[in-house]
Amino acid sequence: MSPATVQSFTLLDGTAIPWLGWGNGTGAASTTAVESGKIALESGILHLDTAQIYHNEKETGEAITAAGVPREEVYVTSKLSARPNQIPVPLAEARASVQESLDRLGFVPDLYLIHNPYVAEPGHLKALWALFEALKDEGKLKSIGVSNFRPQDLAVILDGAKYKPVVNQIEYHPYVLTHLAPLLEFQQQHGIITQSYGTLTPTLRHPTGGPLKPILERIAARVSTTTGTSLDASAVLLLWARAQGVVVVTASGNADRIKGLAKLAALPAGLLTPEEVEEISAVGKTVHFRFYTEHLENEFPLPDLPSQ
Ligand SMILES: NC(=O)c1ccc[n+]([C@@H]2O[C@H](COP(=O)([O-])OP(=O)(O)OC[C@H]3O[C@@H](n4cnc5c(N)ncnc54)[C@H](OP(=O)(O)O)[C@@H]3O)[C@@H](O)[C@H]2O)c1
Repeated sequence: MSPATVQSFTLLDGTAIPWLGWGNGTGAASTTAVESGKIALESGILHLDTAQIYHNEKETGEAITAAGVPREEVYVTSKLSARPNQIPVPLAEARASVQESLDRLGFVPDLYLIHNPYVAEPGHLKALWALFEALKDEGKLKSIGVSNFRPQDLAVILDGAKYKPVVNQIEYHPYVLTHLAPLLEFQQQHGIITQSYGTLTPTLRHPTGGPLKPILERIAARVSTTTGTSLDASAVLLLWARAQGVVVVTASGNADRIKGLAKLAALPAGLLTPEEVEEISAVGKTVHFRFYTEHLENEFPLPDLPSQ
């Protein structure tokens, strides 16, 4: 499968990112980063997501070597993470910590993120972003972005910024839409693309699936018939995110599921009708259910909605 068959989105800095990435931060994917990463790459998923805290940046580079895919054909994201027990990275040590990421990977990743606003010591978030900007200017980083940032965190780093973050990587699915509304609006104003994780929370982690379950199953059946490819409710969630210009990061350590994700990644855009996309969003907005609290529930009010 050629990389050209997978749709990409254009980031603020003019670079392109494939719409679906395979992450090695969760589940079996994290403990089998080389083997599963190799399967992902060989299947045609040429977009890998890692982070310092996953302890497999080295394995991410090894997976690319093992798959025999040229490095320049793979889009790689990594992140500057807080130290164990959520200890922030002192500003004076951040440059060296970024370099350690690059050394473990064996190359400069295409995208490098501040893993969450608490990676910086209190009051140092803007200075940490300024360091990312300087590293970009020096050619030590390429695209730069953030993760788990609330509107107030984005406001801090955007004030006088030389570069805007190209993405904010957050838990994103229909059951967090109401909570995220102010954040998504802020990002849209600035052209910051949402990169999703935890996208399968409604189908895999919500105790019953909630009101979306029959809707996703109905749409999955329709799209399976149209495409001749068997898709389930989880696949519909990934297509729903893509239909909104969201870059999806998902994970699997299961070879068959990884190959299924690669097939999904290569399907043409526009598989869901605008009415289906809107129906999923509208029903999703009636429930609040988050799996990863990270820091998005601190000083960022939760919606007054039923939460199962
Ligand atoms: N920036 C951050 O703070 C942050 C936080 C969390 C995650 N991430 C990134 O995003 C990636 C994906 O996160 P996520 O795991 O939350 O994504 P997700 O797409 O919501 O879930 C993927 C998980 O679902 C399981 N799965 C998929 N289909 C399944 C099925 N039909 N039945 C049962 N299990 C199924 C996979 O397990 P199997 O291995 O069994 O297939 C995998 O562990 C991570 O690896 C990481 O790279 C970033």
